[in-house]
Amino acid sequence: MKQADLLYTGKAKSVYRTDDPEVYIMKFRDDITAFDGGKKDTLAGKGRYNAEVSTFIFRYLGEHGIRTHYIESIEPGVIAVQNLTMIPLEVIVRNVAAGSIVRNYPFREGAPLDPPVIVIDYKSDAHHDPMLNDELIYALGIATPEELDQIKAMALAINELLSKYLDLRGITLVDFKMEFGRSNGRIILGDEISMDSMRLWDKETGASLDKDVYRFEKGDVMETYAGVAKRILSAPWGEVK
Ligand code: TYD
Repeated sequence: MKQADLLYTGKAKSVYRTDDPEVYIMKFRDDITAFDGGKKDTLAGKGRYNAEVSTFIFRYLGEHGIRTHYIESIEPGVIAVQNLTMIPLEVIVRNVAAGSIVRNYPFREGAPLDPPVIVIDYKSDAHHDPMLNDELIYALGIATPEELDQIKAMALAINELLSKYLDLRGITLVDFKMEFGRSNGRIILGDEISMDSMRLWDKETGASLDKDVYRFEKGDVMETYAGVAKRILSAPWGEVK
């Protein structure tokens, strides 16, 4: 499989075509952004840590029956993925109140959300990712009711698997964001699940172990990413039942 032309450049990843139309190559860059692109930096090695963690999580989810776009790792920071038609939704599952849900609604930071709360935003830079509801998703023609049901069920199943796994590593999965795509009429997990898209708190100390360290300058971002990658990757995934 040969890498061909650049298809798409996002805030932290670039996607390339290959000589196989079904396969794309995804490169995790060292760029980091926050606040709708208002804060930007490049941190050497960051792409590699996110790729490692995302790869590990996608393989773990795959082993547990979740369909994902992951095919194989090519080199550090670079993976081969299935070509999906992406659905422009940011599907966020929240187990603990934090971030925008605390700013926008009367939740106390750190309050458990049980059952978990699903929030879905429209992935559109032009519209600044507004929150959607089911009716808006149907009216905009983004997904059918059957597809949305499936996306929500997958999001909750992924949350359950990932929360359990991270809990065993002493990490609380506060919330995280997923993106889904279609291939041959099936819904498949795409994009990444990494320290850029999860909000993680140390179970003992409550310390942030994710992009909040960058957003709010809570410490050394690379030290945090390296440490959390080590913690996540150190566990044999067979442990989780
Ligand atoms: P949220 O609290 O809505 O946003 P923020 O606190 O960044 O204003 O974010 C919930 C989770 O989803 C958090 O773990 C980060 C992730 N997320 C993304 O990865 N990309 C996004 O565009 C958004 C809105 C959230």
